Amino acid sequence: MRSRLGRLTAVAVLDELETPWRAHAAHVAHELVARGQLLEVPAERRAHGEPRPRPEGVNTLRLAGVEVPRIGLGTNRLTTAREHVRFVRDAVAEGVRHVDTAHLYTRGESERAIGEALDGVPEDVLVATKGGYSAGQGRPEVIAAQIEQSLRSLRIETIGLYYLHRVDPETPLEESLGAIKAFVDRGAIRHVGVSEVNVEQIERARRVVDVAAVQNRFNLADRGHDDVIDLCEREGIAFVPYYPLRGDGGPGLTAAARRHGVSENAVKLAWLLRRSPVVLPIPGTLSVAHLRENLGALGLDLGDADGIAV
Ligand SMILES: NC(=O)c1ccc[n+]([C@@H]2O[C@H](COP(=O)([O-])OP(=O)(O)OC[C@H]3O[C@@H](n4cnc5c(N)ncnc54)[C@H](OP(=O)(O)O)[C@@H]3O)[C@@H](O)[C@H]2O)c1
Repeated sequence: MRSRLGRLTAVAVLDELETPWRAHAAHVAHELVARGQLLEVPAERRAHGEPRPRPEGVNTLRLAGVEVPRIGLGTNRLTTAREHVRFVRDAVAEGVRHVDTAHLYTRGESERAIGEALDGVPEDVLVATKGGYSAGQGRPEVIAAQIEQSLRSLRIETIGLYYLHRVDPETPLEESLGAIKAFVDRGAIRHVGVSEVNVEQIERARRVVDVAAVQNRFNLADRGHDDVIDLCEREGIAFVPYYPLRGDGGPGLTAAARRHGVSENAVKLAWLLRRSPVVLPIPGTLSVAHLRENLGALGLDLGDADGIAV
């Protein structure tokens, strides 16, 4: 497998596979690379057409098995309108590799728009989705039905990262996660996350299933989950802050934006990236100009960040 011939053979074989099997084969290929038995992952190629150039010199992190820039895209206002579907394609062309959605968003339109835009998810893009938002929806049969729906909407056989959206007050989180784990065991979910959770709940979740990511509200004005970020950093779990652009900053925010010649939003994102190497913000936007500005935060070194947060 280490020879050039071996790599080319692997590329040819992967390209022959049907999309669902290609995703599984890519997973195996990543394992082989980790063991030093394969030089690179042939499935880094696009599912359709030519290989897509990888974002270079960009601040990346391996999230749920996919190398992604540390700024993703939130999609809770995305609909199936033609211009929104086009926007998702544009976002990937601009370098986005981590798209965050949920069964709940825009009554399912967000997932359907992403499914349509990406026509099944390419191996170098991670689409994360979630289920079980409201009370009662953490029941195993409800979660299972939502996962099946997400697979159909996203037009995929395997979800790269699936979060339990909320801990259901009516269902022990072990039962909700047990239902999600059943999909992991059958290969329909690759990695699992939890959302809006505290340290104790994360520890309980980890007794049921490997936790690859935690998604909690966190921004420079709302730092209630500092202890969760510290846990994630210690344990090598990704921390995905939602509402990354909300909240007013301290007096240093405007000054930092002026000093670096960028917007206050870019400083807010760079401040989050600086908080810990496991942080991957998911600013929500429907604008390519805003998306570019948000990705620009990846290269912003704030230096002294005093006074930026409230
Ligand atoms: N796990 C959970 O429970 C949970 C809860 C809420 C949200 N989320 C996820 O987190 C994502 C982010 O949250 P959010 O979208 O509600 O809040 P946000 O990212 O903090 O802010 C989004 C708002 O900022 C604007 N914006 C984005 N980039 C901008 C820029 N460069 N300049 C100026 N304005 C900009 C957007 O409008 P434009 O469209 O005009 O750019 C939108 O109004 C959601 O999309 C969703 O995927 C998760």
